[in-house]
Amino acid sequence: MRQSVLLQRFLRHPAQVGALWPSSRALCRTIVSEIGVETAHQVVELGPGTGVITREILRLLPEKGRLLSIELDETLCMHLRKAFPQVDVCHDSAARLGELLKERHLPPPEAVISGLPWAVFPGSLQREILNAVLTNLTPGGYFVTFAYLQGLMLPAGLRFRRLLGELFPEISTSKVVWRNLPPAFVYRCRKG
Ligand SMILES: C[S@@+](CC[C@H](N)C(=O)[O-])C[C@H]1O[C@@H](n2cnc3c(N)ncnc32)[C@H](O)[C@@H]1O
Repeated sequence: MRQSVLLQRFLRHPAQVGALWPSSRALCRTIVSEIGVETAHQVVELGPGTGVITREILRLLPEKGRLLSIELDETLCMHLRKAFPQVDVCHDSAARLGELLKERHLPPPEAVISGLPWAVFPGSLQREILNAVLTNLTPGGYFVTFAYLQGLMLPAGLRFRRLLGELFPEISTSKVVWRNLPPAFVYRCRKG
């Protein structure tokens, strides 16, 4: 999918899309590493956008593994279905993760991978989505997301970091990925 699609969607819905261009390959590879995608039966992706992380998940997912991607933007969903026919692309909100898994009779995912723009979300939505993730992850499963370095100095970024610490017993952060605009790092959170 053309990278300019994300820019077009940003211009229409800046507070939903939250980024002008997709994550770099270096960042996407860091996001999908060290969380067991290689052996997973069920993975969920939140906010796939143009599918740059989707592609990296599919590179690692075993043949028997399934990917459910939840995206709020209908135009992006259409593009994603064309680009990745093997993925169940669901036009809905990440906050409805539990209902979407139940409707499809899917097992609790071993990994939930997020491309959501947390820093533009109000605290109530951050909490609602993270609660849905925590409730539905399999025990020992991973929730992984990224944050921009400069976001650590902003109230929403700090609030998000505090919330992760409140909900997940085990959190680690990756090295800074400088080959991304802006530089970013990854949070890997494990459900107890
Ligand atoms: C910054 S883009 C990320 C794109 C891609 N994953 C990446 O890292 O480059 C964020 C995406 O999250 C989607 N999004 C925002 N709020 C959402 C929600 N509540 N549920 C599902 N998707 C959402 C937006 O429509 C957008 O496509």
